[in-house]
Amino acid sequence: MATGKTFYIETFGCQMNVHDSEKVIGTLQHEGYRQVEREEDAGLILYNTCSIRDKAEQKVFHRLDEYKRQHRNGKRFAVLGCVAQQEGEKIFARAPYVSLVSGSASYRNLPEMLKRLEAGEMRITGLDDRQTDETFETEFTARQNPYRAYITIVEGCDKFCAYCVVPYTRGKERSRGSNSVLAEAHRVADQGYTEIQLLGQNVNSYRDPEGKRSFAELLAAVGEVPGIRRVRFTTSHPRDFTRDIVEAIDAVPTLCDHVHLPVQSGSSRILKAMNREYTRESYLERISWIKAAHRPISISTDIIVGFPGETADDLTQTMDLLAEVEYDCVFGFKYSSRPNTPALHLIDSIPKAEKVARLKVVLDRQREIQRINYARHLGQTMEVMVEGINTVRGQIIGRSSQNIPVNFTCAQPIAPAPGSYLQVIITATHPNSLVGKAV
Ligand code: 5AD
Ligand code: SF4
Repeated sequence: MATGKTFYIETFGCQMNVHDSEKVIGTLQHEGYRQVEREEDAGLILYNTCSIRDKAEQKVFHRLDEYKRQHRNGKRFAVLGCVAQQEGEKIFARAPYVSLVSGSASYRNLPEMLKRLEAGEMRITGLDDRQTDETFETEFTARQNPYRAYITIVEGCDKFCAYCVVPYTRGKERSRGSNSVLAEAHRVADQGYTEIQLLGQNVNSYRDPEGKRSFAELLAAVGEVPGIRRVRFTTSHPRDFTRDIVEAIDAVPTLCDHVHLPVQSGSSRILKAMNREYTRESYLERISWIKAAHRPISISTDIIVGFPGETADDLTQTMDLLAEVEYDCVFGFKYSSRPNTPALHLIDSIPKAEKVARLKVVLDRQREIQRINYARHLGQTMEVMVEGINTVRGQIIGRSSQNIPVNFTCAQPIAPAPGSYLQVIITATHPNSLVGKAV
């Protein structure tokens, strides 16, 4: 049986999506809906979807098929996010029991779309595509993370990298006024949050519509909000990565010692084909600014292997770049072609097995680099923010300012709460984390 105004939401994809869901949840609650933990208890089931790579998309359709039977019980289904925007009304054909399809650029219309849903409409769409200049701001954001407050500063994307679906799923690039961002930063600090993560597909492409602050100035201003101890930002685009960002990190102690700067490839030839608008050399110049900082700024990246036309020599250049930068973390992906994107017209001729092999080569090399990097932390004492408890291992899970996971033990009888800070001495390393003891 339908259970009235209750909802269940599942989120796929990136932090932008996670935070969008927090805003959607808040909006639903304001409209009188109550969130439940299980699909079976919900009258309205929402999937906030991702389509960045093909597996991400299949997951959603799989999930929809799984719960198809439940529609007979009068449940309503909504598909939100990137797959919604990408597939649009085609979703109704594939899953006729879905009543609402909305991309993120239309969420400001959610209250109105919900009213139509409640009135019994079966085919409601919010598919703004690249038309809107508006951002989705709401005072009702229901933050789900107890220790980290996400704040969106840029929505959408105008970069059109050849492989990437985001410009077609999240709309035009539009920045939020810096006064509004700072007001939200003060609000979350008042609520007790000490960590803020500023979000944008290209967070550093930020352009204050009020003309008051550059991205670096906004970053510094957020870092100076009383009560805030850590500020992160993601994701930076190398083309728009300016030196003043490093200067801000150097000047403001609350800005974390970490920059995520996706390179995608170490070959200028492939970067050009990807339409990334930087070269290997200009990327490495930005890395040199980061490395020249007074603070030990950790660097992470994203790599795509098997982009159409990638040769063994291109891959070698990517491997050399890994060794030169000495990243602390690499997210590696096999290229998959995406609807609407420019690269769709290139022949995706590198076989899957070859892409798998290339990815393995990259990740094996990175594992070795990381082992050496992490070993440098042995014996160091660092501030760790608690994120949770691993009850199986009896360890506390946390994160350093450099964004490295730190698992540690603590002599105190009561486990420290998520969001608290402890000094931890590093005693061992794992491939993707540090191990230590609270001091
Ligand atoms: N194929 C593989 N990886 C992709 N990414 C984005 N689009 C694709 C694609 N079509 C990767 C990029 C990006 C990360 C979020 O996902 O590395 O930085
Ligand atoms: Fe996935 Fe990209 Fe959409 Fe985030 S913006 S949900 S990564 S497709």
